[in-house]
Amino acid sequence: MSKLHILDHPLITHKLSIMRNKRTGSKDFRELLDEIAMLMGYEITRELPLEDVVIETPIEKMVAKTVSGKKLAIVPILSAGLGMVDGLQRLVPVAKVGHIGLYRDPETHKPVEYYCKLPHDIQDRIVILVDPMLATGGSAVDALTLLKGRGCKHIRFMCLVAAPEGVEAVTSAHPDVDIYTAALDRGLNEKAYIVPGLGDAGDRIFGTI
Ligand code: URA
Repeated sequence: MSKLHILDHPLITHKLSIMRNKRTGSKDFRELLDEIAMLMGYEITRELPLEDVVIETPIEKMVAKTVSGKKLAIVPILSAGLGMVDGLQRLVPVAKVGHIGLYRDPETHKPVEYYCKLPHDIQDRIVILVDPMLATGGSAVDALTLLKGRGCKHIRFMCLVAAPEGVEAVTSAHPDVDIYTAALDRGLNEKAYIVPGLGDAGDRIFGTI
């Protein structure tokens, strides 16, 4: 069963509250999202595999443990997910980055993939799928299905704000995927925006309001 991890460290919660404020402009919004992604990345990478390397300290030789960074891939769902990539990559600079662009066909309601570029060995990596807002869960569910279709077996989903509806959608479609969020909000409004939420994350990141 998926586990929901609410990463409500005071620094994360504080920064998220500034982001929620409608008076916060795009520059600050982007910077805060980047900082939160890095802080969340600290927790989401907690169980990354370590490998032994032999090094020499100024005193003697030792077997030291290092993160096997090549085993990680960060995959943003376009376009708002891009805002969380740099913060994560700063923690694990050798992580590979893939991109997934999806939309729902308004008539068939089927997911349409308009862009997808993934590391060639994505199936061998631990994948962190990122999208700031987990609202209905439609894009996350479809992106997870796509990743599994490419052979990915170890996937985590990371968002900034989640709605219970999105958590339920991801959990029932992909019970093997853990969800990491900075906050679990009340629900969705009639336009499928998260309430209280922070508005349209993409618009606030890219200044397209
Ligand atoms: N996407 C957003 O950017 N905001 C929401 O509240 C829901 C979906």
